[in-house]
Amino acid sequence: MLGRVNHIALAVPDLAAASASYRDTLGARVSQPQALPDHGVTVVFVELENTKVELLEPLGDASPIAAFLEKNPAGGMHHICYEVADIIAARNRLLASGARVLGNGEPKTGAHGKPVVFLHPKDFFGTLIELEQV
Ligand code: CO
Repeated sequence: MLGRVNHIALAVPDLAAASASYRDTLGARVSQPQALPDHGVTVVFVELENTKVELLEPLGDASPIAAFLEKNPAGGMHHICYEVADIIAARNRLLASGARVLGNGEPKTGAHGKPVVFLHPKDFFGTLIELEQV
């Protein structure tokens, strides 16, 4: 069911500092910051040869990463995103196996304009999983 790693998302308290560190210290290609108000984050994309890392900073009052940064003030890995070919089939298989899909269970349009679902971290060893249909 799982395809490639689409991206790994890191929550960071200071996007400019994190972006500069990836660019200057790690020598990676980084994008300009992009505000995604619908998703409550500002994101910088770190473009790697085989995948992306997304640096996420909270945007607005209802940011989905605000609570994570309260618990992890230095930042940390927020989620990993795997690609799937059919998000409805994947969602149905997960529900049938007892895994919890966050929200109302229906795919939402993710940060890349494609359908996504998130899976409860307690069902997957403490890591929030995003599935994205590609
Ligand atoms: Co993501």
